[in-house]
This record gives sequence, C-alpha cells and structure tokens, in this order.
Amino acid sequence: MTDSLSEILKNGGIVAFPTETVYGLGANAFNPDAIKKVFHIKGRPSDNPLIVHISNMNMARLFWHHINDDTEKLASVFWPGPLTIVLEKKADVLDIITAGLNTVALRMPKHEMALHLIGETGPLVAPSANLSGKPSPTKAIHVKQDFGKDFPVIDGGSCKIGLESTVINMVTEPYTILRPGHITLDEIEEVLGKKVMVANLKEALQPQSPGMKYSHYAPDASVRWLSHGENPDRAKTLYLYPVSALPDQRENIICYHSNYLEFARDLYDRFRQADLQGYNEIAIERFEQHDALLNRIEKAIGLT
Ligand code: TXA
Ligand code: MG
Repeated sequence: MTDSLSEILKNGGIVAFPTETVYGLGANAFNPDAIKKVFHIKGRPSDNPLIVHISNMNMARLFWHHINDDTEKLASVFWPGPLTIVLEKKADVLDIITAGLNTVALRMPKHEMALHLIGETGPLVAPSANLSGKPSPTKAIHVKQDFGKDFPVIDGGSCKIGLESTVINMVTEPYTILRPGHITLDEIEEVLGKKVMVANLKEALQPQSPGMKYSHYAPDASVRWLSHGENPDRAKTLYLYPVSALPDQRENIICYHSNYLEFARDLYDRFRQADLQGYNEIAIERFEQHDALLNRIEKAIGLT
C-alpha cells in the first residue's frame, strides 16, 4: 500500500499521510506542479507557506541556508516530533513553498509511516489534509470527508497528539513562537537556556506566520465559551467540559477530567462529529491550562 502511494508522490501526485499531530497532504517538495495542486485542492491562499517534512538532518541542509547552534539543539531534543522550525532558506527553495518569504519551515514528524514514506520519496510539503477552513484531520476518515472516499490516504489510525505542531522562528533572537503546540514555550526555553517570545497571535496586519491571519479549525456549528453558571440543557448544543466532572450522562455532555492530552487528541474529531450529528453549537467550559488548546478553540470561536 505505502509503496504504491510513494509511487504516486514520485510521479507528482498528492497523497495524505498520518503524522503524530494531524494528517498531512503530501507532495514532492521539488515539484512545483505537484505543490500547486496542494494549494488548489485545499483551497488554500497562495500567501500561506507550507511546511517541508523531512526524515533526516541531511534533508534539512537541502533547504536551510545555515543551521545555527540553537536550532541544532532543538532538533536534537525534539526531532522527530511536533516542532516546526523556521530558518532562512537556500536560494533554490521553491517560492511556491515559502509564499515568497526568505525563510522555510521544516519538521521531522514522529511517526513511523511518515518517516518511512519520506525516506522513499524524499522531502514532502504537507499542510494539514483538510479543506481550508475545516478542522485539521486526526483520522483517515476525516481526510475522506473533505476530499472524497477514493482520495489516497495512508491510514495510520488516530493521531496521538491531535493538534498541529508548535512553530518557532529561529532566524533572529529573541526567537519567536508563531503557533503554540504540544511542545511548550517552557520546554523550549529550558533546552535553549534563554527566553523565547510568543508572537502576538491577534496581530493580523503584519503576521510573521501568514497562516495566523486566517480563521482556521472551525466546524460549521458555532463554538463559544460556556457562560458562568450555565446549565447544559440545550438539546442541540454539544457541551465539552475539560475540567468539571458532571454527574449527567447525556450523550451531548463530554467530560475530560483535566486530561488535556486526551482533550487535544479528541477536539477536532468532536468538531467534525458535531457537524455530522446536527448540533448547531458547541459550548466549552473555560480553562486556564494549555496554550495550544486555548489558541485553537479561540480560533474556532473567531476570537483570534
Ligand atoms: O503539525 C503540523 O504542523 C501539520 C502536520 C501535517 O505536519 N501541518 C500543518 O501545516 O499544520 P499547515 O500548512 O496547516 O500549517 C503550517 C503553518 C501555517 O500557519 C504557516 O503560515 C506556517 O506554518 N509557516 C509555514 N512556513 C512558514 C514560514 N516560512 N514562516 C512563517 N510561518 C510559516
Ligand atoms: Mg492547516
């Protein structure tokens, strides 16, 4: 299965594959026509650059102009894993990948099927394998919901993390987190032994990561925070409780008992299920922990 799909990629086609974060829509990173198709079928604006996925450090050297010591450090600790690093690109990196920026984003996914595939095909660009504006896919079936039942997908089951990778710009100090993810600011600062900034995610005018200005990850049902003291009594609302344990056992009430890893893994699937089951809104109990989850939920609400 994987072998015939790697042939499709080598011949300029597109194949979706699993990673530990979300499914990616893969295309050969040296084939501009294949990459054009990715933008086209996703309906993705051309000013939103793509992440190149690699399976070893030699591949990184094909794209990055220079690898500084701090990047080596982060890569040695967090790769393979859910961290995307942005550095100055080599002159011959395709403009269509970087949307004309002088930087390119790289990531080595922590998933055997993805690493095996990239080992066979070479570096792959891979945005999340959803139609632009839909929640990212965390199961193969989600990819088929967006692109049709015959779309080529390597099925690796449910993604372990369920939220997109942390994106960090390492071009100049202080380095900047452009998208919060499973790997946290604290973990990165601890490895580097220095302070790292977090981009103002609400600053849409001159975004450092163009993707930040687009509303993302939203189901058709409207998403909102649960009001203080509100009872979960609407039949057409799906209630998500990250913290509180409710005695009520109705099917539209889901409790995560402060298990944020499980909540993150489940979020996009719940979003998609809510639409399929005809809920018209999703109400989520407020919580303090977990920057990446807060960021994705605020995006779905339309707050950032
Ligand atoms: O976990 C992930 O990162 C998933 C899996 C498939 O690896 N991929 C993913 O790709 O989320 P995508 O295309 O949905 O999001 C890529 C993000 C966008 O916000 C984009 O703007 C940013 O990375 N990005 C890409 N290249 C960049 C660059 N050169 N400078 C700044 N931001 C960049
Ligand atoms: Mg995406």
